[in-house]
Amino acid sequence: MTNAIEIDSLTKRFGSFVAVSDVTMDVKKRQFMGLLGPNGAGKSTIQKIITGMISASSGSVHVNGFDVKDHKNAMFSTGCVIETPESYPNFTPTEILNYVGKIRGIRGRELKIRITEVLEEVRMWEWRNKRFGSFSKGMKQRVSLAQALLPNPEILILDEPTSGLDPRGMIEVRQILKGLNDGERSLLISTHMLNEVSEVCDAVTLIRKGGLVMSGNVRELQRNAIGTAELEVNVRRPYDQAFMREISEHDGVEHADPIDQYSFTVILKDQNTDREWIVDLIRKHDLGFLTANQKGSEIEDLYMSLTQDGGYDVK
Ligand SMILES: Nc1ncnc2c1ncn2[C@@H]1O[C@H](COP(=O)(O)OP(=O)(O)OP(=O)(O)O)[C@@H](O)[C@H]1O
Ligand SMILES: [Mg+2]
Repeated sequence: MTNAIEIDSLTKRFGSFVAVSDVTMDVKKRQFMGLLGPNGAGKSTIQKIITGMISASSGSVHVNGFDVKDHKNAMFSTGCVIETPESYPNFTPTEILNYVGKIRGIRGRELKIRITEVLEEVRMWEWRNKRFGSFSKGMKQRVSLAQALLPNPEILILDEPTSGLDPRGMIEVRQILKGLNDGERSLLISTHMLNEVSEVCDAVTLIRKGGLVMSGNVRELQRNAIGTAELEVNVRRPYDQAFMREISEHDGVEHADPIDQYSFTVILKDQNTDREWIVDLIRKHDLGFLTANQKGSEIEDLYMSLTQDGGYDVK
């Protein structure tokens, strides 16, 4: 089976500056892939090459089995939003989508139905007859997403679709993106936000200064990032030494430390082990379970260590 996107030894130079250096990665069919990296990492550059906006200096990119140099075929089943979403300010979403539909060869009743569907999907139906120019950034993002979704593409390429949005806007757009993961589509989404990748994607490729750092399954990455997980647990009534001993001696526990009589930390050997026993033990000792918080975000720690200068490189 061909991959949705295949990138092989891709390099992009701007003059003597190397923006993308020998990147090899792929997005499998039906995979939701996060292209993660800090500002200037080369995310937009890679996506511009995939969508044929700029050409590669060397290496190759295939979309749905077609070389991106064969632009028409490569983009046939692709929808994309690259960098800032802009459109005709005096056009309404309905007019913009009518225009896009005609370019993409959708007409008549089919186009009308599709426009209604995508405007509902991105929650812009009630704004369908207002001018694009009057929209907030989040609304513009959603109209652009509707444009990309209109031909019902198998492959979606989105460049930081939540950038510049307020927290509510981010949550809304992420929910729309999660809803697109229906087992039919592939997505390549660039972001510098880790939580976005964990929420929306099942795979992640990390890049830094134009180079590939690592690529893998999001859950695996989280699992590998830290073999243990540190929890801070709070209880309602003071516990005694016997309780602490029982916690420390549990099979799944690497180490346990009291903070005060009402709280303690537990480092688990494997973050994926069942944690219900902690609550059961608290109940058995009649301490009244309050909260258990995972300390730090393991994927965040990994991201920080991998993206810092002189950081850990996996090639
Ligand atoms: N047309 C260009 N001419 C010269 N340099 C460029 C050009 N486009 C991008 N670059 C440089 O290439 C590098 C990668 O840029 P790119 O826009 O791909 O990064 P990014 O990962 O998308 O960053 P951001 O998170 O800020 O969007 C940057 O150092 C940028 O300055
Ligand atoms: Mg960018």
